[in-house]
Amino acid sequence: MAKLNILRYPDPRLHTVAKPVPQVDARIRQLVDDMLESMYAADGVGLAATQVDVHERVIVIDTSEARDDPRVLINPELMAMSDEMSFADEGCLSVPAIYEKVARHARVTVRALGRDGQPQEFEAEGLFAVCVQHEMDHLVGKVFVEYLSQLKRDRIKAKMLKKAREDERA
Ligand code: NI
Repeated sequence: MAKLNILRYPDPRLHTVAKPVPQVDARIRQLVDDMLESMYAADGVGLAATQVDVHERVIVIDTSEARDDPRVLINPELMAMSDEMSFADEGCLSVPAIYEKVARHARVTVRALGRDGQPQEFEAEGLFAVCVQHEMDHLVGKVFVEYLSQLKRDRIKAKMLKKAREDERA
């Protein structure tokens, strides 16, 4: 396994639209394992392949307290969404140390392939539902800060660019 480099906002590659995975083969399973390792190492609850500069529809999530319940979603599709919305603080490994409220469907029904290539369909709610929607946005090139006002987004962008310059000097 290998830890992958996670792109930081406002890296333009984060706006790439991912392609469907043609086949869940050894290459994809390796990607999944590397993404899980990278997500756990960064203490994140979710990671989309877009964030590691691989533009295929692969997501890993673990919203469990014990960090022992990895979920793998390949070619995910939202089959149903609740009318009810929830409004919770979100963060992102590509936008470190920024937390902002975003409106999401409170419950979603998802269909995806697992790491074994088998189709699965499940309902998600709470943090898991938020995470599924957040990560699926990454696959279409959308970062959660794009839900915020232009003013907030510009402020976050400036903060990220300043941090990147500081990291370069360090
Ligand atoms: Ni994210």
